[in-house]
Amino acid sequence: VSSETTPLSAALCDYLAAHAPPEDPFLAELKCAAQEAGLPRICISPEQAAFFGIVLRACRVREVVEVGTLGGYSAIVIARAIVPGGRVRTIEVDPGYAAFAREWVSRSDVAARINVLEGVAADHLAAMPDASIDAMFIDADKESYPHYADEASRLVVSGGVVLVDNAFAFGRILESNPDDPDVPAIQAFNETFRRRTDFTSIIVPFGDGCWMGVKR
Ligand SMILES: C[S@@+](CC[C@H](N)C(=O)[O-])C[C@H]1O[C@@H](n2cnc3c(N)ncnc32)[C@H](O)[C@@H]1O
Repeated sequence: VSSETTPLSAALCDYLAAHAPPEDPFLAELKCAAQEAGLPRICISPEQAAFFGIVLRACRVREVVEVGTLGGYSAIVIARAIVPGGRVRTIEVDPGYAAFAREWVSRSDVAARINVLEGVAADHLAAMPDASIDAMFIDADKESYPHYADEASRLVVSGGVVLVDNAFAFGRILESNPDDPDVPAIQAFNETFRRRTDFTSIIVPFGDGCWMGVKR
């Protein structure tokens, strides 16, 4: 750690969370309902949500694609941050999760801005034209991250934003013999993504670590 860096302790993470904007009641309710419905607890953290909101608002994004909807938590966060008239297309392979997300999206204040696309992300992405979106959030099957990054390079306009979740591999990124195959997949992805010349990127330490990149 360089002398300019304050190491992030658990206490500092708690401090950071305590100084983030509060999670709004609708999203907190969605999270409880998702848990009751048996969805996995793997949505973005409230601090990460606040960060996404600030970044996407500052960049005035209009067209966003999300890979991995789950219950719609992050899609709603993103939709609230885009410009009026903008659109979030969020892709989910699991029909049960997609149905849950559609229900909660329809009850949200941004229902008109979100399309939940059901199916395999690679198929939906392949149908989208080059340089047609302002931002992409990648948060699905880890072994496909290299493909999603290639698609982001094709789809995101110059100056647009890419966000890629779980750069810390559920906190296991430094393990040498992990038993979960997602961990080496993310380890390998991180090593190639940081060398890409089409994006300038850095890992932001919110939630489970999130790559944020800008398309050159
Ligand atoms: C981490 S969750 C997404 C969480 C969501 N972005 C949030 O923060 O609220 C990952 C989701 O990706 C979905 N998924 C996995 N593989 C997929 C694929 N090939 N195509 C589309 N969705 C996929 C999973 O079913 C799961 O719901």
